[in-house]
Amino acid sequence: MSQLLITGGAGFIGSHTCLVLLQEGHDLIVLDDYSNSSPVALERVVALAGLQASGERSKERLQLIQGDIRDITCLEKVFIDARNAGKPIEAVIHFAGLKAVGESVREPLRYWDVNLTGSRCLLAAMNTHGCRTLVFSSSATLYGYPKDEPIPESAPIQPINPYGHSKAAVEQLLHDLASSAPNQWRIACLRYFNPVGAHPSGKIGEDPLGTPNNLFPFVSQVAVGRRKSLQVFGGDWPTSDGTGVRDYIHVMDLAEGHRAALDCMLAEPAQLLTLNLGSGQGASVLEVVRAFERASGRPVPYDVVARRNGDAAITVADPAMAFQRLGWQTQSGLDEICRDGWAWQSANPTGYSDQE
Ligand SMILES: NC(=O)c1ccc[n+]([C@@H]2O[C@H](COP(=O)([O-])OP(=O)(O)OC[C@H]3O[C@@H](n4cnc5c(N)ncnc54)[C@H](O)[C@@H]3O)[C@@H](O)[C@H]2O)c1
Repeated sequence: MSQLLITGGAGFIGSHTCLVLLQEGHDLIVLDDYSNSSPVALERVVALAGLQASGERSKERLQLIQGDIRDITCLEKVFIDARNAGKPIEAVIHFAGLKAVGESVREPLRYWDVNLTGSRCLLAAMNTHGCRTLVFSSSATLYGYPKDEPIPESAPIQPINPYGHSKAAVEQLLHDLASSAPNQWRIACLRYFNPVGAHPSGKIGEDPLGTPNNLFPFVSQVAVGRRKSLQVFGGDWPTSDGTGVRDYIHVMDLAEGHRAALDCMLAEPAQLLTLNLGSGQGASVLEVVRAFERASGRPVPYDVVARRNGDAAITVADPAMAFQRLGWQTQSGLDEICRDGWAWQSANPTGYSDQE
């Protein structure tokens, strides 16, 4: 089993993936500045992985470093300390980044800085220390207004906001890096569709700061009584019920996708592999609302308002290549997603904080 560096491992997708990787037997170093997460998430991951009782051993399996991916001195130290401890970092899973589309429109400099400069610093440190195996969090946002449904990986890259541009720039950098040393880099670039849900235990889940940007946390906060009602942006899209259709993927399926991509990168020759991670199934906003009402037994009041700039009618993945290359496909549907999302939200109405 390998020693892995997980940037942004305390976040939503990172914490669930850390659990899967610990259960798989890997040792992890998590580097996170907690700018959008809480260390409590990783305490719970340790407990879920059954490591708590083992004390010192648990620190060996999961090491936490509070730091910024743009801090080269910090990154250098992480690689050097791991080597000096006799457990050099074999691969990196790079989750750390900013992800809110609206915020990226207001603060493009910050988005380019964290997402692109941060990735460049990380890649430079990896290169210096001879660690050239990477799994990178990319996004379906890259496809902008897609022409094809479902969307294959070959669809044009045409992002329509600074967040998408910054992810496209990192993908380009990865491409340039892989081309510069074709027999050295093993890179899996994973384009996620809409990650939602939570670990079935209800112990870890999504805990957005402030008003949620995405549908799912919004719906669950309405169901739990934290917000009064949901705004549905547009009831006149060319879809079966007029509301937008997205491809929702259970975060545990996504975590398994990372495990599979990492295994593939560690086993196969050097390459740059770009894959969609989605279910291939679309669900409309109203289908999500009804599924969440069924799972929670609570009403989710909503108002249909005008369409929002930058939204597409339908965004659904073609996940065939991920199945072909990794043998991976989603296992959970909308009902399981809502069941587990509700288990998390109802047990943790204010997320990881114990205050409203
Ligand atoms: N959640 C989604 O809908 C979605 C979809 C597509 C792609 N992604 C990408 O997946 C990755 C993980 O997303 P998530 O939903 O888990 O987000 P998240 O905000 O929950 O996790 C990101 C983590 O990175 C940390 N972080 C941010 N800036 C940092 C910095 N400069 N240095 C160190 N740590 C830093 C945050 O504190 C957080 O723990 C992101 O790169 C995001 O862009 C997310």
